[in-house]
Amino acid sequence: MMKMIKTSMAMAAILAMAFSTSALAAGDIAKGQEIAAGVCAGCHNADGNSIIPINPKLAGQHAEYITKQLMDFKVEEGKTSKRNNPVMASMVAALTQEDMENLGAFYDAQDAASGAVSANKELLEIGKILYHGGNIENGVPACASCHGPTGSGVPPHYPMLAGQHAEYTLVQLNLFNTGDRSNDDGVMKKVLTRMSGEQKRAVSEYIQGMPLTK
Ligand code: HEC
Ligand code: HEC
Repeated sequence: MMKMIKTSMAMAAILAMAFSTSALAAGDIAKGQEIAAGVCAGCHNADGNSIIPINPKLAGQHAEYITKQLMDFKVEEGKTSKRNNPVMASMVAALTQEDMENLGAFYDAQDAASGAVSANKELLEIGKILYHGGNIENGVPACASCHGPTGSGVPPHYPMLAGQHAEYTLVQLNLFNTGDRSNDDGVMKKVLTRMSGEQKRAVSEYIQGMPLTK
C-alpha cells in the first residue's frame, strides 16, 4: 500500500514538473510586455495590477488561464463568444494565439498587489465560511476545493482569486449565474445557482481581502 502511494506521489511530481516546464516554454515574457504596455496598460495597469475595481487584476494570474480567457473573448464569425464582452472582444481581435501565450507569461510573472480588507466584519465572516466550507444545507461546494485554501488557484484550470477586486468578482459571479459567461463548462453556474445575492457579495469581499501567497 505504502509503496503504491509513494509511486503515485512520484508520478504526480514528474507530471507537475512536466506541466510547469511546458508552461515556462509557452510564452515569451518580453514580447508579452510589449503588447501589454502598448494596448492593455490603460485599463489593467502596466504590471497588471489594475486599480479600477471593474477591470480585473491580472498580475500573478496563471498564464494558461489568461491565455484561455483571451481566446474565449474572441468572436468567431457566426458563433457567439463564450465570454461575451465587447470591450475585450475588440482588444483580442488582432491577437494571435502566440501573442496570447506571451501575454499570459508576462502577467503570470508579475507580483500581485493585495486588496483592501472590508470593514464590514459580519459580511467577511459569511464570506469566509462559504469560501472554506461551502454551505452543506443547500449544497454549495467550498470555493477552496477548486480555487485552493489560499485562493492561489490551481493551474491550468482554476484561476487565482485572492486579492481580486470585489466589484469585478461579483460581476463575474452574476454573469456565470445567468449563463452570460459560459466558458466554465457549467462548473461555476452549478456552484452559483444556490447562492443568495448577499452570499455572492460576502464571498467577493472576502476574496478581495485574502492575503497573497504568491
Ligand atoms: C478599455 C479597457 C480595457 C483594455 C484596454 C483592456 N482590457 Fe482586459 N478587461 C477589461 C474589462 C472591463 C474586463 C472584464 C470583462 C468581463 O466582465 O468579462 C477585462 C478582462 C480581461 C481578462 C480576464 C481576466 C480574468 O480574471 O478572467 C483578461 C485576461 C484581460 N482583460 C486581458 C487584457 C489584455 C491582454 C489586454 C490588452 C491586449 C486588455 N485586457 C485590454 C478592460 C480592458
Ligand atoms: C468544482 C470546481 C469549482 C468550485 C467549487 C468553484 N469554482 Fe470558481 N471557477 C472554477 C473554474 C473551472 C473556473 C474557470 C472558468 C474559466 O475557464 O473561465 C472558475 C472561475 C471562477 C471565477 C472567475 C475568475 C476571474 O478572474 O474571472 C470566480 C470569481 C470564481 N470562480 C469564484 C468562485 C467562488 C466564489 C466559489 C465558491 C462559492 C467558486 N468559484 C467555486 C471552478 C470552481
